[in-house]
Amino acid sequence: MIHTINVEHLSKEFKTPQKKEGIWGSLSSLFQKQYTIYKAVDDVSFSIEKGELVGMLGSNGAGKTTTLKILSGLLHPTKGTATVLGHTPWERHNDFRRRFSIVMGQRNQLWWDLPAMDSYLLNKEIYRIPTNRYKELVKKLSERLEIDSKLSIQLRRLSLGERMKCELIGALLHEPEVVYLDEPTIGLDVVAQHSLREFVKEYNKEHDSTIILTSHYMEDIVSLCKRVIILDKGKIFYDGNLEKLSSSVGNDKIVTLHFKEEISSEMEASLSPQFEKISSTTLKARISKQEAPNIVSSVLQSYPIDDINLEEVPIEEVIREIFQKK
Ligand SMILES: Nc1ncnc2c1ncn2[C@@H]1O[C@H](COP(=O)(O)OP(=O)(O)OP(=O)(O)O)[C@@H](O)[C@H]1O
Ligand SMILES: [Mg+2]
Repeated sequence: MIHTINVEHLSKEFKTPQKKEGIWGSLSSLFQKQYTIYKAVDDVSFSIEKGELVGMLGSNGAGKTTTLKILSGLLHPTKGTATVLGHTPWERHNDFRRRFSIVMGQRNQLWWDLPAMDSYLLNKEIYRIPTNRYKELVKKLSERLEIDSKLSIQLRRLSLGERMKCELIGALLHEPEVVYLDEPTIGLDVVAQHSLREFVKEYNKEHDSTIILTSHYMEDIVSLCKRVIILDKGKIFYDGNLEKLSSSVGNDKIVTLHFKEEISSEMEASLSPQFEKISSTTLKARISKQEAPNIVSSVLQSYPIDDINLEEVPIEEVIREIFQKK
């Protein structure tokens, strides 16, 4: 069976010149360059089937973006092989380029000074999208993401979330079979994150497209991906079912309570012991989603509270716990 994405023993080393300190150091490096070699991706193998939506996790610098860049043909690997839709990505065949897309939350691909619509027209020509299909898709995708009224406004005048929606549409107009989404929800507010997430879920189902998603938000991964690949220092640490990984994954919330007055020791003692004082007026705790409503409402009834914050447990923390358990 041919996998949609197949990666075998992939490695990527970055060679960076080492500069010695001081002016003599600079001069001597001119004549005798020394390099440090950094393994960003280290002997990685996995395969992904058509229609799968796989989450790629790992802390900063784990090698996620580098892997996706190799699978897009933007970087050559140092070692190993990869095929995507039967092509070697870094050979950059036209047929391959028409069949995949990469969206990077950290970088714009549309033209900053143009309205999204004008960039889309350019994509239409590059990918030779038939006019009727093009119109149909722009309408459908932009209505679905509720961004249709903003397509004629210069991209740089849009909010971060609006821009991301425009980017996503631009990346999907040629109906790619493989899509890499590298932190598509970074910096977005909860509403925009949710709408992007729902969109990706539907798109994956409707088109049976193969998607790799990286994110630092647990909620993205939990709501979208059955399977996760965790990278740690360039190596695969885990590849498999998300639920099996840990039953506590995504089950906790971080609750922060901001009190109107200074927290007395009696107040602190009367609260659930999970709470930890982080300032004279602030307490923080990690509690399960099921417990959170009860605990929060009982505090609200008993004390003058200025503000309550409910957050997801950062993905780094969850991964760290998993690493520790193993
Ligand atoms: N062009 C480059 N030259 C030298 N080192 C690089 C280069 N690109 C990436 N690296 C290094 O390779 C490692 C992996 O980087 P990569 O961008 O793949 O991490 P990541 O998993 O995407 O992290 P993040 O979650 O922060 O986006 C990092 O240590 C980074 O500094
Ligand atoms: Mg990255």
